Amino acid sequence: LAKIEINLEDIPEGRHVTFKWRGRPLFIRHRTPEEIAVVRAVPIETLRDPEEDEKRVKNPAFLVLIGVCTHLGCVPIADAGDFGPGGYYCPCHGSHFDAAGRVRKGPAPLNLVVPPYNFLGDHTLVVG
Ligand code: FES
Repeated sequence: LAKIEINLEDIPEGRHVTFKWRGRPLFIRHRTPEEIAVVRAVPIETLRDPEEDEKRVKNPAFLVLIGVCTHLGCVPIADAGDFGPGGYYCPCHGSHFDAAGRVRKGPAPLNLVVPPYNFLGDHTLVVG
């Protein structure tokens, strides 16, 4: 399927859900205010792949990511690793990502990829 439509009402605050899009895992996280505050407080110059959270999300409450580690392509585990709350951990070689999907530790060279997406009304997300 070229596009996938997701009903955001099915994803409660604080939860991560994995979908499949174009044969790859698609991560959607409904972030809590605390998760948003923590990632937005990180000084950008301390990041390996410096990107502001504001540039990675269209609505701060929803993080949308391709769930493929930028090291060698394993699927990171949600709500794990050293950079939570809401972080991700890749068990293959130990890369840690924060609740913006940005690499914070381990061998991954780049942040998790944000796919093209848009909101359709208040409750629908279209990826693709
Ligand atoms: Fe994720 Fe190596 S594939 S750390």
